[in-house]
Amino acid sequence: MSDAPLHRLFYHFSEMPYSLRCLYTATLLVLGAGYLFALIYLFHSYSGKDGNPMTLSYEDVVIAYSGSGKDSRLESALRGSMAAMLPQDEVKTLVSWVRDGSDRASYEKTIKQMLDKRCITCHDGSNPHLVNLSGYDNLKKVTEKETGKGIFTLVRVSHIHLFGLTFVFFLVGTIYSHAYVRPVWFKCTVITMPFICLTLDIGSWYFTKLYPPFAWVVMIAGGGMGLSFAYMWVISIYQMWFARTPPAIADRVG
Ligand code: HEC
Repeated sequence: MSDAPLHRLFYHFSEMPYSLRCLYTATLLVLGAGYLFALIYLFHSYSGKDGNPMTLSYEDVVIAYSGSGKDSRLESALRGSMAAMLPQDEVKTLVSWVRDGSDRASYEKTIKQMLDKRCITCHDGSNPHLVNLSGYDNLKKVTEKETGKGIFTLVRVSHIHLFGLTFVFFLVGTIYSHAYVRPVWFKCTVITMPFICLTLDIGSWYFTKLYPPFAWVVMIAGGGMGLSFAYMWVISIYQMWFARTPPAIADRVG
């Protein structure tokens, strides 16, 4: 198949009018920019989950989808950025209150006055960017264990990704289908791979909740998608504007 004859319906970029080539190029440029922004956003929102914001790791993905399984937001804050706001023995009191199920009675008795003294100046709810810690019900929300994204959030993000990325890969795949690539099976694999990866990726978001090692599938499938996007993009732009017409096509035209 490495020198399969040209299909009679195959049109190479070099046989297409400039108008179409311009349309394809403009589409690829904007989609490429979109993909870059998506990567920046992905990195920004996931890379810091495991405490190291410089890399996007397996742990990051596990925590994003299934939660860290250990700490509530309150506990991580007390151990991290909020540690300086109160003395160590009060940290201990707060943490054991959370571990013991954060009941209302001890809140009224000891916890409330502690927070009123140390935290409420900033966390009284008047700043919409800071968690509101006034009152039992608000505090309770940050004492719950992190369980990662909720199922309904996943459902919402899934349908957006399935619709959106299908359009993206349909467009890029259609454009790339005009590239001259041999063997044909390889060309077809590159075109179908993103759709398979997309399905695996999104499915594994849910499976990661049940069994964390699925985070590897999320990462590998995401990588596969990016790789085929990059490959189709580069080959299309290159053959459209920079490469010499492949001999098989030059012969047909001749
Ligand atoms: C001087 C103001 C100030 C005080 C006092 C303060 N905080 Fe904060 N807190 C912040 C700011 C700013 C943030 C957001 C940035 C960050 O996470 O470092 C924050 C974030 C948090 C978060 C959310 C972390 C997350 O998961 O995003 C928690 C929980 C928290 N604080 C708890 C507390 C507790 C408990 C106290 C009292 C012991 C306290 N804070 C005292 C300013 C304050």
